[in-house]
Amino acid sequence: MTTSLPVLASTREELSTLLADARRSGLRVGLVPTMGALHEGHASLMREARDRVGDGPVVVSVFVNPLQFGAGEDLDRYPRTLDADLEVCAREGVDVVFAPSVEEVYPGGDPMVTVEPGPQAEVLEGRSRPGHFRGVLTVVAKLFGLVRPDVAVFGQKDYQQLALIRRMAEDLCLGVDVVGAETVREAGGLALSSRNRYLDEEQRLEALALSRALRAAQEAAAYGVGPALDAARAELRAAHAVDLDYLEVTAPDLSPLPDPVPPGTVARVLVAARVGTTRLIDNMPLVLGHPEGRPDHEPDHEPDHQQGER
Ligand code: PAF
Repeated sequence: MTTSLPVLASTREELSTLLADARRSGLRVGLVPTMGALHEGHASLMREARDRVGDGPVVVSVFVNPLQFGAGEDLDRYPRTLDADLEVCAREGVDVVFAPSVEEVYPGGDPMVTVEPGPQAEVLEGRSRPGHFRGVLTVVAKLFGLVRPDVAVFGQKDYQQLALIRRMAEDLCLGVDVVGAETVREAGGLALSSRNRYLDEEQRLEALALSRALRAAQEAAAYGVGPALDAARAELRAAHAVDLDYLEVTAPDLSPLPDPVPPGTVARVLVAARVGTTRLIDNMPLVLGHPEGRPDHEPDHEPDHQQGER
């Protein structure tokens, strides 16, 4: 395994020079866009990119994108750990780390033209964080333009982001294969996130309620949406430091589920909550309804049925 540090590019020119040979040789280029503070979840994205491009270069971008942070969000305190990030990239055999300044990405200040994310951005995170996905899609489109990757890998943990980036690549014919990699979890189930480092020990324990809630929803999903949400809610209520933002079950493309839901329907359960001052999100797939009809016994929690809760 390569352990030498990847080449660091901080300007568009450096990046373009570094990738020129690979392009001339017809090698596939892989991109893993990140905001740094890299952890094992990011490392798994890098491995996925390597699998997809073989001998071609894997580029990791490290850029805390101001355009996707709202007023009062954690732009200023977002962890910036470039030296440690380079070590993670070295361990994963990454070829190039592109870590531009804000001026390099947005030379004239905020861009006049941005990517309008459409209706898929109006639910869930989009409702709680207005403008967030316009910022995400705009910077991802720029990164696609600068790196011109054949494949780009994103985590399923940011499920709505992944769905929107897929849709952007398709609708705008960007020619990039967008890959979603599975969420990496700690032993207790907590999804890895750069924001976990804001949690103290007690909050970390409370945060486990999110993945417990999603698992409870998966288990109760055979009984329908209502019982799945009830089961999840019961777990979240038991964690007093968890302040729920939303808990919803949607179709995999984030559209509302059909009514009635045909047995065996594949869906997604998504949650966002604040633990102390830290906002966490998570999601899991589930299968709704019992393919052989409704099971005999209802699960054991209060019948408080709603498709979504905020
Ligand atoms: O998921 C992230 O880290 C960011 O939203 C991304 C995709 C790198 C865009 O800034």
